[in-house]
Amino acid sequence: MNASRIALGVMRMDALERGDAANVLDTVLGRGVNFFDTADIYGFGAGRAHASSRKFGMAMKDTGVVRSDIFIQTKFGIVIDYADGGASRYDSSIQHLGESLDRELDALGTDYVDSVLLHRPDPLIDADEFADAIDGFIASGTVRHVGVSNMDPRQIEYLQASLKVHIQVDQLQFGLMHTPIIDAGMHVNMSDADAVNREGDILPYARLRNITVQAWSPFQSGTRYGAFVGNPHFPELNRELDRQARKHGTTANAVAAAWVLYHPAMIQLVLGSMNPGRLSQMIDGDAVQLERQDWWDLYKAAGHRIP
Ligand SMILES: NC(=O)c1ccc[n+]([C@@H]2O[C@H](COP(=O)([O-])OP(=O)(O)OC[C@H]3O[C@@H](n4cnc5c(N)ncnc54)[C@H](OP(=O)(O)O)[C@@H]3O)[C@@H](O)[C@H]2O)c1
Repeated sequence: MNASRIALGVMRMDALERGDAANVLDTVLGRGVNFFDTADIYGFGAGRAHASSRKFGMAMKDTGVVRSDIFIQTKFGIVIDYADGGASRYDSSIQHLGESLDRELDALGTDYVDSVLLHRPDPLIDADEFADAIDGFIASGTVRHVGVSNMDPRQIEYLQASLKVHIQVDQLQFGLMHTPIIDAGMHVNMSDADAVNREGDILPYARLRNITVQAWSPFQSGTRYGAFVGNPHFPELNRELDRQARKHGTTANAVAAAWVLYHPAMIQLVLGSMNPGRLSQMIDGDAVQLERQDWWDLYKAAGHRIP
C-alpha cells in the first residue's frame, strides 16, 4: 500500500480524551491521509511509553478504520526516563528492539506495522545485530519496511551494508524555521556559520539512494516560543505567510505546509497538530501551487540568508 504524502504524527495524542483522538483520526482520514507515524516512547504527557500508540489504537477501533487501509510507521531505539523526560540511553540491541516492538503491537492493537524506523543513531550500534533484528521481524510478518531517523549518510551506509532490505526513509527535522538539510549546501567553500555541514549532505544523498525524507516538527520555530504560524514573535515570517495566503486564496497554515511539499525531493510531511481545524488547513497545503519565488521569499522571511 502507498503511504500518503502527508502523515499524521501521533506524538501528542496521549494527551487527548479518547473521543477527541477518534475525531482527529476521522478528520485526517476524511482528507485522504492514510499514513500515521508513532514511536514506542511517545507518551510524554501520560508519563509512560506506548501511551500515544495505545490512544491511537483506541481511535482506530472507535473510527472503525480498516487496518489494511492505513500505513502505520513506528520508531524504536530510545529508552526514556519519564521522571525527567530525558533519554536514559539509545538501545539498538536485538533484545530491546524485540521487546519494544511487541509492546508497540499490543498498544496499537495490530499484529504488524508497515514500517519501523530506528529513532536515533546509537553510538553503540552493531549493524549485523540490527540487521538480524530486522530480518527476524520481517520473517515473522510483524514489520514490512525499514527506515531510520536523524541519521547522516555514513550512518545509513553502515547499516545498509548489513541489511538485506533497502532503508526507505530518513525522518529528519525540516520546516520553514529549521532548514539545516538545505542551508549548508548553499554555502559550500564559504567560511560563514551556515557553511558548517551538520548533516553530511543528507538531502542529495537521500535523493541519490532513493530514500524518502520525512519532515518532523514542520511547524516548530525551534525556539521556546513553539509553533511559528500566527506567532507574534515571528512578525516578518507571518507577514509573508499571510501575504501568500491571500495570494493563493488559502491560510498561513496551508502555505507553511506547501513550503515543505514544494521541494522536488517529494519530502513527506509529518504533522503533529491535534486540532482538527488546524490539521485541515495544513492538509490544504497539498493543493497550493507555490511559485518558485514564493518558496524563496518564505525562506528569507524565516530569517535564512541566500549567500
Ligand atoms: N523522528 C524524530 O526524532 C521526531 C521528533 C519529533 C517529532 N517527530 C514526529 O513528528 C510529528 C510532528 O511533530 P510536532 O508535533 O512537533 O509537529 P508540528 O506540527 O511542528 O507541531 C505541532 C504542535 O505545534 C502546535 N501548532 C502547530 N501549528 C500551530 C499553529 N498554527 N498555531 C498554534 N499551535 C500550533 C500544535 O498545537 P495544536 O495541537 O493545538 O494544533 C502542536 O502542539 C510527531 O507527532 C512525531 O510523529 C519525530
